Amino acid sequence: MARDESWLTEVQVCPSILAADFGAFRAQVVELMDAGARTFHVDVMDGHFVPVITFGHEVVEAIADEVHSRGGALAVHMMVQEPERLAADYAKAGADSFTIHVEATRDIHRALQIVGELGMVPGVTLNPATPVAAIAEAARYARNLLCMSVSPGWGGQAFIGATLERLPQFRALAGAGVGVEVDGGIGPDTIAGVYAAGANRLTAGSAIYRQPDPGQAYVDLVERVRAAGATIA
Ligand code: DX5
Ligand code: ZN
Repeated sequence: MARDESWLTEVQVCPSILAADFGAFRAQVVELMDAGARTFHVDVMDGHFVPVITFGHEVVEAIADEVHSRGGALAVHMMVQEPERLAADYAKAGADSFTIHVEATRDIHRALQIVGELGMVPGVTLNPATPVAAIAEAARYARNLLCMSVSPGWGGQAFIGATLERLPQFRALAGAGVGVEVDGGIGPDTIAGVYAAGANRLTAGSAIYRQPDPGQAYVDLVERVRAAGATIA
């Protein structure tokens, strides 16, 4: 597990592997690392919290060594009911952060505590129509605040414009060492705006993996954030 947590607060473009070609999954992770990507976003869906089922901790395990050996991190986004039940499996598989929906657990404080005790960075997120105030207290116990900019469940959806009004509220809740991530509909037209509104980890699925050259698509997104004034390692 990566112990250095500077990746949480750096400005980064983070590929979401949900949009990868699962027939060439590991090779596509390597391709993006060769292009400069370091943090990968991993979408776990359970068919209850969202209608879709994706994959489990084995997918984290399959790429953890490769990602960690090159200084990268795996940011797991749990779209799962009561995700704390599964936290130990993900910690063992090599997840670096484990982000929970406030709508999906009965006790978000306890859930975040379990995640932290397992050595992962605790993260909290919420659906686009849940008021940001719903995480005002939980944010004290989290080190990743994830602002959903689409409804959870599918890649390739259109960016929700109100995200630009919500992100400054996330940034205001984030203390020192706490990252603000944005997820959904991030691409060439939206990436500079979400950076300017307060996000530092900019997650993108389709805009990277569903392009003819994913490595080049990643580099192009990074350039757009740089042009907006960001320093990207
Ligand atoms: C949506 C997922 C996102 C998804 C984003 O439920 O949480 O991480 O991969 O995909 P794009 O970038 O295609 O909107
Ligand atoms: Zn996600």
